Amino acid sequence: MRHLIDIMDLSVEELDEMIAVAKDIIDNPEKYAHKCDGMKLATLFFEPSTRTRLSFEAAMYELGGNVLGFSEAQSSSAAKGESVSDTIRTVGCYADIIAMRHPKEGAPVVGTRRSTVPVINAGDGGHNHPTQTLTDLLTISREKGRLNNLTIGLCGDLKFGRTVHSLISAMSRYDNVKFVLISPEELKVPEYLKEEVIIRNGLECEETTDLEKVMPELDILYMTRVQRERFFNEQDYLRLKDSYILTPEKLETAKEDLSILHPLPRVNEISVEVDDDPRAVYFKQVLNGKFIRMALILKLLNK
Ligand code: NCD
Repeated sequence: MRHLIDIMDLSVEELDEMIAVAKDIIDNPEKYAHKCDGMKLATLFFEPSTRTRLSFEAAMYELGGNVLGFSEAQSSSAAKGESVSDTIRTVGCYADIIAMRHPKEGAPVVGTRRSTVPVINAGDGGHNHPTQTLTDLLTISREKGRLNNLTIGLCGDLKFGRTVHSLISAMSRYDNVKFVLISPEELKVPEYLKEEVIIRNGLECEETTDLEKVMPELDILYMTRVQRERFFNEQDYLRLKDSYILTPEKLETAKEDLSILHPLPRVNEISVEVDDDPRAVYFKQVLNGKFIRMALILKLLNK
């Protein structure tokens, strides 16, 4: 039985294969409409979500399956003090596969220990978010036609942004990828990631606070929101929240074929005027999230 806790749980070959399956689902949805007939996905969300939970649920419905679950910790027995491990063991009696999101880093790993069904990490605190990364990889592959030979700028809250951490790990395995890390000093990528992924693999990487300076060199610009809920005090959040606001003017020096991604939700870091720019692909990215989660469910259920 396989789980997906960290994007590195999947080999590059498996990533490429899942991207190919997702593209085939897009072209031939009818082929997949009954693959999961009679099966159930449980979505256990101990933290807020719109896209991740609903795309998982839509994905399972489009495969012919059903869904059950909860969308806030308060409405589950977690509110009575039940452990994650017991909750997962219980839900495994009702569902064939589980997608869970939890505010504590590492909670999904704990969940896997006594689980009788595959567990998918749908975000654990400020740590990882592997299924957002699958979404990002499918989006980059569809927009650029490749996952290698890219300069990718990651901008915003690189410290607490779990989607950034998983995306750097995943992209580190493709050839000739250069990272440009754009953040305020206080929100830089965590040291462990820099040491274990970027330095250890000898990856090309530039760190800067200046988005406009690096704009002309980027093939991908991955914007992120400042993660208010992970700050220790509100003053720091208020001081840092408007560090980067992408506007049409700031895009004037960007490449014609830049792709602008954002995992969403957006607060104010991309002005709504940018939405009409053909380079803004964040709502296409939302849709890609459903297709790649279909491919993931099929893989983990051996369908
Ligand atoms: C992200 C998350 O939950 O980490 N959202 C998502 O799943 N698309 C990004 C965020 O909350 O900023």
